[in-house]
Amino acid sequence: MPFKILEKEELATGVFKMVIDAPDVAKAAKAGQFVMVRTFADSERIPLTIADFDSKTGTITMAVQALGKGTKQLTKLIPGDNIADFTGPLGTPADVKKIGTVILVGGGVGIAPIYPQIRAYKEAGNRVISIIGARNKGLLMMEKEFEEESDEFYVTTDDGSKGHHGFVTDVVKQLLDKERAGEYNGPKIGRVVVIGPPILMKVATNMMAAYPDVEIIVSINSMMVDGTGMCGGCRVMVGSVPKFACVDGPEFDGRLVDFDTVMNRLMIYKKEETEASKKYDE
Ligand code: FES
Repeated sequence: MPFKILEKEELATGVFKMVIDAPDVAKAAKAGQFVMVRTFADSERIPLTIADFDSKTGTITMAVQALGKGTKQLTKLIPGDNIADFTGPLGTPADVKKIGTVILVGGGVGIAPIYPQIRAYKEAGNRVISIIGARNKGLLMMEKEFEEESDEFYVTTDDGSKGHHGFVTDVVKQLLDKERAGEYNGPKIGRVVVIGPPILMKVATNMMAAYPDVEIIVSINSMMVDGTGMCGGCRVMVGSVPKFACVDGPEFDGRLVDFDTVMNRLMIYKKEETEASKKYDE
């Protein structure tokens, strides 16, 4: 069954929103899950975290960064084109429950996948503070949507071209310190969820060592190969126990994740990916 692209829009430089007609996937999807996409029958499989889903219209929205050969093939397609394979929802849904106040952090291409969690946490009765950040303002996306849905919303850029000049973690720290100083009026901040590059999730987790009473959840969504628990490509050590990000995750307690193995594993595929992407551009 072909999966039609209904909409495509460039959200930020090189990052495209793609809305796909996939009623069965949309009916079952939950925040935190992902889909496996194969553009053509002979293309590689690409794992993409679901950025939005609508069971009424039967659509799934993804944000795709055109980086490697597979994502470049996908983002060249236009509305009306079909995708060969679209499997999902995969992975364990985010553990959404009533916490109090939840801080949701999206860094770079992690901005889109954190978005559906706003709605999920709010529906569970939480106050939601969202923070999105990127290297510069050209890489920010979905600001209007975040502002509308969140109770409080912050933007950061590494170069200071928009919002706070610095990192998303600076704002998380400011908020937690404000609460400790008795200057925050909302329900207790009980959880921070971070989706972004592994280095950002590692830095955020290290920073949270000073706040042991606040949970830190991260999403290891960038290292999957088959997405079915068969290939072992997404193996990650969590509390010294091997887990598969595609079936046990992608979300884990950040304090238990061995980020160095995650980053090393990503480097293993880097050379082949860069070569394939270069060849595709030629
Ligand atoms: Fe292959 Fe998870 S992606 S086991």
